[in-house]
Amino acid sequence: MQEQLTLALSKGRIYKDTLPLLEAADIIPSEDPSKSRKLIIPTNHDHIRLLIVRATDAPTYVSHGAADIGVAGKDVLMEAPSDNLYELLDLKIAQCKLMVAGPVEEKPHGHRLKIATKYLNSARAYYAQKGEQVDLIKLYGSMEIAPLIDLADRIVDLVDTGNTLKANGLQPLEHIADISSRLIVNEHAYKTKFEQINAIVEKFKTAIK
Ligand code: ATP
Ligand code: PRP
Repeated sequence: MQEQLTLALSKGRIYKDTLPLLEAADIIPSEDPSKSRKLIIPTNHDHIRLLIVRATDAPTYVSHGAADIGVAGKDVLMEAPSDNLYELLDLKIAQCKLMVAGPVEEKPHGHRLKIATKYLNSARAYYAQKGEQVDLIKLYGSMEIAPLIDLADRIVDLVDTGNTLKANGLQPLEHIADISSRLIVNEHAYKTKFEQINAIVEKFKTAIK
């Protein structure tokens, strides 16, 4: 009998983009998390199950061994590095960029730049490396509003098509990092369940190509 294998992933774009990879590894979820309220989803294999978690929580489940493997955005991994996990594969899904953005018509400001972001650590590291002193304001979403109502001068956020910035009179200004989702694996599980995990990794690799 094969050992229980638990995968942590978030619903929304990560689930949607991971589904074809799961299919390539012959893992078929029994329910669609966008339609179900169930958070532990069985699959066509009795010993494989999916945990539907918040995108920012996936590394925590894997780091603690509550999930053996998971999918997490590089933005999340950069913002809060976790112990006890390997970042095994770039899945090349949910691709976007972490950027500084600001108003198309920026007002002159005589003070230190105020930056609104949910990526406090990444923003802090970026401005430190530039040698620029800024004030950071933590938000949890809808960062684009902040420069429109003078809460901040600029934002640090994810940009893909640029449509959200454009719709709010903002423009991309500085590139911080390219982002995509990564397959993360608990270090202990990678040793004890190597064959099972490696079989999935190899199938994912072929599907990514
Ligand atoms: P949480 O629910 O924990 O706040 P979230 O709302 O950011 O997370 P998603 O919007 O599903 O969750 O984003 C999951 C991941 O997808 C992000 O961590 C990022 O890596 C990537 N991502 C976010 N926005 C985009 C986008 N517009 N285009 C492409 N990839 C994106
Ligand atoms: C993300 C991000 C931006 C937007 C960028 O938000 O926070 O607001 O996507 O994508 P674009 O450049 O293609 O417009 P998301 O759609 O995930 O909404 P959320 O942060 O509210 O979950």
